[in-house]
Amino acid sequence: MITQSTPRIGIILGSTREGRFGETPAKWIRDLASKRTDLNFEAIDLRDYPLPFFEEQMSPLFAPPQNAVAQRWAAKLATLDGFIVVTPEYNHSMSAVLKNALDYAYAQFNRKPIGFVGYGGVGAARSIEHLRMVAVELQMAPVRFAVHVGMVEFLGIWQQGKSFDDFPHLEQSATAMLDDISWWARALKSARGAQS
Ligand SMILES: Cc1cc2nc3c(=O)[nH]c(=O)nc-3n(C[C@H](O)[C@H](O)[C@H](O)COP(=O)(O)O)c2cc1C
Repeated sequence: MITQSTPRIGIILGSTREGRFGETPAKWIRDLASKRTDLNFEAIDLRDYPLPFFEEQMSPLFAPPQNAVAQRWAAKLATLDGFIVVTPEYNHSMSAVLKNALDYAYAQFNRKPIGFVGYGGVGAARSIEHLRMVAVELQMAPVRFAVHVGMVEFLGIWQQGKSFDDFPHLEQSATAMLDDISWWARALKSARGAQS
């Protein structure tokens, strides 16, 4: 049952470009997630946070950003207990717009879980591994399970009229990832509450 104490998870879409494929997996994971009663979800589109390339005088680790969009971004992140990032792979890593958004906050990410839905030639595996390393520096808990929408599924859905329903193993991966996020979000929310 969803109550006021149910952890809130932001589903961040990590591509902002015109014609992005990312909207399709983002909608799929949102629809799957919305069937759950153990977590609350909110879609977060980086297009709604048009951050400049990082230009603050200090890292957000040491001082809150001056930029108004960055302050709005941090305020949104602060309301969330965990994250699912829907990520493309650009040159074997995350998109620049996603890395920039991660660089623009710090404390608001700390001690919260993060899971991934990646798409691309190898299911964005390289991008997700890089994201896990960045997440650790932001003091997050990257979860083990992830969804990798690989070449066959990616091209099938993008260009051959197929849908996620044609690839049931993806839903299995999503369920494992969401279960993992649920456990960590609950444990860390409780531990953060005990600390404050
Ligand atoms: C700059 C750039 C670099 C890319 N590099 C990779 C890559 O390393 N691996 C991969 O699987 N796909 C790569 N691609 C193809 C993307 O998987 C594909 O364009 C995908 O649609 C990008 O996600 P988006 O449409 O949501 O932005 C690249 C695309 C761009 C624009």
